[in-house]
Amino acid sequence: MRILLGITGGIAAYKAANLVRALAELGHNVQVLPTKNALEFIGKSTLEALSGNPIYTEMYEDVQEVRHVAYGQEAELVLVAPATANFLAKLANGMADDLLMNAILASSAPVVVCPAMHTEMWLNPATTANVEILEQRGIRVMRPESGRLTGGDSGLGRLPETSDIISFALYGSEVLAGKSVIVTAGGTREPIDEVRFIGNFSSGRMGIELALAFRDAGAQVKLIACNIDRELPAGIEIQRVSSVSELESAMDQPSDLLVMAAAVSDFQLKNPHRGKLPRGEAMSLELTPTKDLLAQYAANQKDSYCVGFALVENGSDVIKVATRKMQEKGVAAVVGNEITALGAVDSSVHFVTADGAQHKSGSKTDIARWLVAELSAILSKS
Ligand code: CTP
Repeated sequence: MRILLGITGGIAAYKAANLVRALAELGHNVQVLPTKNALEFIGKSTLEALSGNPIYTEMYEDVQEVRHVAYGQEAELVLVAPATANFLAKLANGMADDLLMNAILASSAPVVVCPAMHTEMWLNPATTANVEILEQRGIRVMRPESGRLTGGDSGLGRLPETSDIISFALYGSEVLAGKSVIVTAGGTREPIDEVRFIGNFSSGRMGIELALAFRDAGAQVKLIACNIDRELPAGIEIQRVSSVSELESAMDQPSDLLVMAAAVSDFQLKNPHRGKLPRGEAMSLELTPTKDLLAQYAANQKDSYCVGFALVENGSDVIKVATRKMQEKGVAAVVGNEITALGAVDSSVHFVTADGAQHKSGSKTDIARWLVAELSAILSKS
């Protein structure tokens, strides 16, 4: 996506370097447009190097380029972070006294602003009124956080973390707001006896990241956690389960979207042993296949957009396998990845739908956000 990133002149402008880098790493083309005052807090060269694009701030430099119109028209998203009280006031009044203000007025792209300032300035009735005006015009205003401010004092007014700004700006779309999303994560355990089980190495990380990204996009998320040790996020309904049959019961409800990231056992013991199996000679365990929960859910919940995962042998044709699973299980999409992704922080996935395949690699956090953006785009068309 082509993002016009406005930076205005507050101390938090130094944090914009991380934002530029993170957006560029997500594959976005970031055109940074700092105000003159912002350049008192952060160097132009830093921003040019991180974005890979030259930076102009002057309205009357290369006038023949009509840069403000080009910037405004090319942008698919305008993001301003940090946004000062002065910037909010100017935008609320439609002022166009520098290149950034002109570009914003010349743009029809969605606008997201992230105010950061001292608590008193944020709470000042003038700022409150300006924010109200901006929101009435459809501009999305991300509330500042509480925390340490410049000068050592603390309070409301801090610029939120980079990852939160990205979630809010990129994925907080209307499309997913209030939608019910079920995410399954982790790995099931099928008892062999009362102390042993058949399990797998799934860490649940991808599913947790997806649940977080859906939550940040405004969805009502239920995370069904299969044997996940790590702490689970707030703001999400959590149901902890262990076996395939417990997972099946937890999934027994409609949803707008199901994302089946859990590694589900394909087999269970025909007769799990009561008590503890004693040590002894070689033994065989009789296994029976489990139900395919994803296929069953897709067949029963016709209104739900179902997304499966496919863990494919390293070196196999991931897209081919994912496409086959999509057809066999009767689901709308399958995210295919290789076994190396198991338990890892980074991954590389192919997102396969009836329209084809798209590839993304990076941290599971970035991949989750990307998938949520893709799914949001798909749902907006349906
Ligand atoms: N799945 C499921 N129920 C099962 C097995 C798998 O719902 N009993 C789901 C998984 O959560 C995943 C998708 O099906 O979303 C594919 O899982 P995977 O284990 O890769 O594939 P399988 O269907 O088990 O096929 P294979 O044995 O060929 O790997």
